Amino acid sequence: MIKVAPSVLSADFTRFCDALKMLEAAGADYIHCDVMDGMFVPNITFGPYMIRDMRKTTNLTLDVHLMVQAPERYVEAFAEAGADIIVVHEEATTHLDRTLQMIRAAGKKCGVALNPHTPLSVLEYVLDGLDQVLLMSVNPGFGGQSFLPYSLDKARALKAMIDARGLDIDIEMDGGIGPNNVAEVTAAGVNVLVAGNAVFAAPDPAEVIRRLKRGK
Ligand code: DX5
Ligand code: ZN
Repeated sequence: MIKVAPSVLSADFTRFCDALKMLEAAGADYIHCDVMDGMFVPNITFGPYMIRDMRKTTNLTLDVHLMVQAPERYVEAFAEAGADIIVVHEEATTHLDRTLQMIRAAGKKCGVALNPHTPLSVLEYVLDGLDQVLLMSVNPGFGGQSFLPYSLDKARALKAMIDARGLDIDIEMDGGIGPNNVAEVTAAGVNVLVAGNAVFAAPDPAEVIRRLKRGK
């Protein structure tokens, strides 16, 4: 089952409520929330208060992607704000295992995100306890960038790693995904598709969401 997680990074920030209603009506599975701190990535977006207010507006799963240095400082705040899935970057937290324990203790699903260059081997000892792995297919910080083709090999390798251990972990891919490459991305084992620009720049966002869900 393919899940579609539109990224509201590409929405009009003054009309978030409309965007959420549109995504719900269009059959989105998750709302992908890109939190950027201007340190881990060269851009700044929003924090827990935005998640709190989105929580009041939608029942869809809030998939919170923390592109934040030392995300452990904010796990509790995002959990209280109503995040459903909290995803931290391996590169941003010194004590990854401890940070994941904090997310689980808060009763939330936990995910680890990897930058394009980060090898899968960093997941070796934490994989078993994860709900989701997010593979960045662009360098994080901005919407609308081009998909890095080597991400497909990485997805295939991750899928093999998960299957070899008999685990049930979602593989999420983030960056440069749209109807033009969705077939390859899903064939590589990805089952959660983040899409920002492809959805929000389209004349008919709902149609793009349907196509992503169909995988073609
Ligand atoms: C990039 C963000 C992505 C981004 C994806 O740093 O993590 O979620 O919004 O946007 P597109 O689909 O436009 O590449
Ligand atoms: Zn993201």
